[in-house]
Amino acid sequence: MATKEKETENEVETKKAATATSKPSSGTVTPHATAAAKTFKVGPVTRIEGHLDIEVTVDQVNGQMQVVDAKCEGTMFRGFENILLNRDPRDAVHLTQRICGVCPVSHAMASSMALEQAFRITPTENGRVMRNLILGANFIQSHILHFYHLAAPDYIDTTGILDMSPWTPRYTTSDMAKGATAQSLVNNYLTALAMRRKAHQMGAIFGGKLPHTPTFSPGGCSEIVSADKVTAFRALLTELRNFLTNTMVPDALAVASLFPAYKTIGRGSGNLLAYGVFDLSTTNTNNKLLARGRVLNGQLQTVSATSIKEYVKYGYYSSATGLNPATGATTPSPAKAGAYSWLKAPRYDNAVYEVGPLARMWVNGDYRNGPSVIDRVAARALEAQKIADAMDGWLNQLVVGGQTCRAASVPASGTGIGLTEAARGALGHWVEIRNSKLSRYQVITPTAWNASPKDDSGQMGAMEQALMGTPVADTTQPIELLRVVHSFDPCLACAVHLLRPGQKRPKVVLRA
Ligand code: NI
Repeated sequence: MATKEKETENEVETKKAATATSKPSSGTVTPHATAAAKTFKVGPVTRIEGHLDIEVTVDQVNGQMQVVDAKCEGTMFRGFENILLNRDPRDAVHLTQRICGVCPVSHAMASSMALEQAFRITPTENGRVMRNLILGANFIQSHILHFYHLAAPDYIDTTGILDMSPWTPRYTTSDMAKGATAQSLVNNYLTALAMRRKAHQMGAIFGGKLPHTPTFSPGGCSEIVSADKVTAFRALLTELRNFLTNTMVPDALAVASLFPAYKTIGRGSGNLLAYGVFDLSTTNTNNKLLARGRVLNGQLQTVSATSIKEYVKYGYYSSATGLNPATGATTPSPAKAGAYSWLKAPRYDNAVYEVGPLARMWVNGDYRNGPSVIDRVAARALEAQKIADAMDGWLNQLVVGGQTCRAASVPASGTGIGLTEAARGALGHWVEIRNSKLSRYQVITPTAWNASPKDDSGQMGAMEQALMGTPVADTTQPIELLRVVHSFDPCLACAVHLLRPGQKRPKVVLRA
């Protein structure tokens, strides 16, 4: 579902001049080399949560049009780190959920974990299981949303099936699935809407409500466990498991088999990072359904939070660059010269990492192909099924009438780190308490890892690298770029701006 956006002639001319010397690169070259180079905002952003623009330059390389430069531009200042200062630390569980309406439960989890470390407490067993069940419901909802409602329309031609808004205007490229395959995916697209509602209802049983749950708390979960709640949860879960196993996984794998070219498109950095998620024990936090780890140059490695640093040379921040979030700062500087994004650039030992379902499934040993566009789509569907199946067993661990939340008092001082996962990748919260108030709060979201701008040494972010070299068959319908961007499931609306050096057209704004 793409829309074209008007632009001024001045913008086109400026970009033409700025990129006239573009050369293909593998992720570290800066093509904007002329004195006329100019970075500017393009808008308005075309979707409701619109705070990410993606601007690419395409050029002829070896007889083929392909991406020779890419920039991810976060166009909105989040600022939650500063909103939280000097507040009661317990507010963080609820305020940080407002960062996002799609993955708020992950923020509740990360915040609860960070505060538990600072408060020196652990959650109750019931609380641990209930939080996993609520987060699992959110993952299932989010993965269904991504495949059917955000990604699948990139792969099917719905002409003659859905000739109405919001499915028009649309791209119709020759490689898209048509006929019975398209009709089947459209039918399941509609079923998926109902399934997402059921996933929300399921999570609300222990979450009180969704998307923003009021029941997460340091020490556990404030809801109670009753036999009726367990029965109601299992009934919805069974429906969702049937849908995932019999409909979504087959559909995702069918799309994967129809687009073999995308097994080599959108590779990115090749490095994968997962903090791990769904603790299976309150005492051994290494015991998780999806393990913590990272893949560097094909080798599985451990993760240490001290190796994470955020760089802001190209971000609109005047705070120091290269800080670990435990000593991090968030000082906005909207007029900063040379900056092009409101995202910082998180790096692990200075290396660029991709996060998300593929990273988690790879680290856990469940899926080891790629990285590529198709592997991200396949791993996401398979992960949804794995989590849903595990949730059925977790329901058996709940103790009806048992304690769900441990009392917690706010200490005078303390620090904590909450490393968990959102549906779209690794999420970390860093907390520092002084005088029983929040004196520092830092958040690194998964989309900061994936959609980061260049770091101080000029390394492009994961999604920028994945766009590099992507062939574009028809610059008036650059569906290839949408497929690459969507494969990361960015938790932002996206506008991709396309420029062909030497020509006034096309520049096309895409939305996620
Ligand atoms: Ni989000």
